[in-house]
Formats: sequence, structure tokens, C-alpha cells
Amino acid sequence: MKIAVFVSGGGTNLQAIIDNTKNGILQDVEITLVLSSSKDAYALERAANNGIKTAVVSKKDFASLEEWDETMVAEVEKSGAELVVLAGYLSLLGPEFVGKYSNRIINIHPALIPSFCGAGMYGIRPHQAALAKGVKVSGATVHFVNENYDDGPILLQKAVDVLPDDTPETLQKRIMKECEWQILPQAIRLIADGKVIIENNICYVR
Ligand code: GAR
Repeated sequence: MKIAVFVSGGGTNLQAIIDNTKNGILQDVEITLVLSSSKDAYALERAANNGIKTAVVSKKDFASLEEWDETMVAEVEKSGAELVVLAGYLSLLGPEFVGKYSNRIINIHPALIPSFCGAGMYGIRPHQAALAKGVKVSGATVHFVNENYDDGPILLQKAVDVLPDDTPETLQKRIMKECEWQILPQAIRLIADGKVIIENNICYVR
């Protein structure tokens, strides 16, 4: 299966996918495009280091949202990707893109949705919010993407304990290592194997 991975920052989730295409559970998966919303994302270097084609498409470089949306569609069409994986991608996708790739876009979110998600809840913020609320478990979620932030059918979740001396940074790191870098490749595996079904906005693994 060919996939496109969308990024905005450091790209540790992209790295987890790359590593699995080489030595892990995704050896039949090809990353045909890494698309970044920012030219400064370190994820672009990770892609280049692995010979993966990259593109930078920033909303702010376009005269209209429609033009940006169309360019995003064109980039993915050109790549031949059957699945789009948002791996730390921080822009809200446009309506044309979401319509065109309906049920073929997944996102990793660093909290147990529906907690600590939605607009503005990205990066370190879900972890700050989790600690401020005093939750005893947190984790990560892979879900399908619709036109709203963190809102589509949930495919996989994994939890870890919140420890008494956690800071947002220690919690973030543990969730990345023990949850995100595990369940994002697993989700791609399940989709590549045709095991994922969505019915009435609920996702089932069969
Ligand atoms: C990850 O923790 C990812 O879950 C989060 O951004 C980080 C990106 O790290 N995504 C969101 O918050 C989306 N709402 P990475 O660039 O090292 O993969």
C-alpha cells in the first residue's frame, strides 16, 4: 500500500513509520510522499535522509483557501497514495481534500479522545491539560479525519498511567514512546490488511 504522511514538526511519528517500513510491521508499505505545512519541519530532513519525496504546502502561501485545498489534493493524487496519515500535522484540512479522501485519512492525537482534543489542543497542550485536570491515565488515539478537529471515528487507543511526579514533558515523552509510535504503525497495518470497517460513524476492526 502506498501512503502519504503529513507533518508539521519534528517527525518522530514519521520516523516510527519509516522504521516499520524497513524492519517492522510495514515492510509492504511505501511512503510515496511526506508533505509538510512548514518548510522548517525537521520531519523533512528525516524524509530526505530516507530518500522519500517531500513537498511543502503552506496555507499562508496561497491567495485563497480553495487554491490551497486544490493543491493539497493534487499533491496526493500525484503521489498515488491510497491512505493519508497525519503524523503531527497541525493544519485543519480543507473540505475538498476531506471529501475526496473520505475514510482514507487518519490522525494521531496525543490524548484519549474525547478528552483534551479539538482546536488548539496540540503538541504539549493536551498533556498540560491532562495534568491540570488530574487524570490518572492518558494516552493516544488514532482516528479517521473529518472536517472538524479530532472528531472522526476512533480506530485505536492506547493508555498509560499518569505518574505522581509527571511534568507535561515526561508525560508527552512516555505517551509518544509507549503509545503513539506503537499504534500509528499498527493502524496503518490494519488498514493495509483491509480489516477496518466504518459503519454509522463507528470504526470496527474485523
Ligand atoms: C505528536 O505528539 C502528535 O501526536 C501531536 O504532535 C506531536 C508531533 O510529534 N499531534 C497533535 O497534537 C495533533 N492534534 P512528531 O512531529 O515528533 O511526530
